[in-house]
Amino acid sequence: MIRLENICKIYGTGEGRVKALNGIDLTIEKGDMLSVMGTSGSGKSTLLNILGCMDRATSGDYYYDDVHVSALSAAKLDLFRKQKIGFVFQDFALLPNYTVYESIEMPLIAQNIPGRKRRKTIERVVERLGITNLMDKKISTLSGGQKQRCAIGRAVAKDSELILADEPTGALDSKNGEEIMKLFCELNEEGRTVVVITHDTGIAGYCKRHVRIEDGVMVTHDQEVVVERDRIVTVKDGRIS
Ligand SMILES: Nc1ncnc2c1ncn2[C@@H]1O[C@H](COP(=O)(O)OP(=O)(O)OP(=O)(O)O)[C@@H](O)[C@H]1O
Ligand SMILES: [Mg+2]
Repeated sequence: MIRLENICKIYGTGEGRVKALNGIDLTIEKGDMLSVMGTSGSGKSTLLNILGCMDRATSGDYYYDDVHVSALSAAKLDLFRKQKIGFVFQDFALLPNYTVYESIEMPLIAQNIPGRKRRKTIERVVERLGITNLMDKKISTLSGGQKQRCAIGRAVAKDSELILADEPTGALDSKNGEEIMKLFCELNEEGRTVVVITHDTGIAGYCKRHVRIEDGVMVTHDQEVVVERDRIVTVKDGRIS
């Protein structure tokens, strides 16, 4: 279980000071699938980066099971991230001159997984994502949807418990977006905890629970209408009803 208590994040100093998160409290149960919505600049990526141990809060506490994450040293935080977290970045963050295979292999190398086991894992992941035929292609030659699948492959190749995705369908048409969300649902059904940032209520509808951030503050709307796939559903107290 993840628990954030009174998380604040301030960027910069003096005139350029920005309070991106202002006292976020959030609990995420193991096996949950959460959407994070909010307008541009509201603090969604900042929150995800902190959850994903890519960045630290300025103040507040982050607990993951019995680990006090916000108190870990830089080296321990790095190790914790590599073991626990798969991250799909807003802009994919893939290197153009690497192949799909090499891109997915990188985090496995970082975890010191031996070569033969890496190959087996990668072959399983690309098959699942329907990109086996792209394995030896360079990232620079792929379409947006293909890059997105590769970025997801990289995030899920290691058996990370927590998958964090920042606008994973932002660059995709609705059909590809839905396929990506179905994939996240499958991973969630297998027991992985999933957090997805999206602007799209239809995409959010694939999640089990929803939160909204405005100006760095969590606003849990009492009632909110979202479109779940092809039907209208109501969200009350952060849960679809
Ligand atoms: N590295 C940084 N340095 C300074 N300010 C930053 C930095 N990253 C984000 N900010 C500021 O913090 C606020 C929150 O940014 P954040 O990227 O979390 O928003 P967001 O909700 O993800 O927006 P979007 O939907 O556009 O991706 C914004 O005002 C942004 O300008
Ligand atoms: Mg963002």
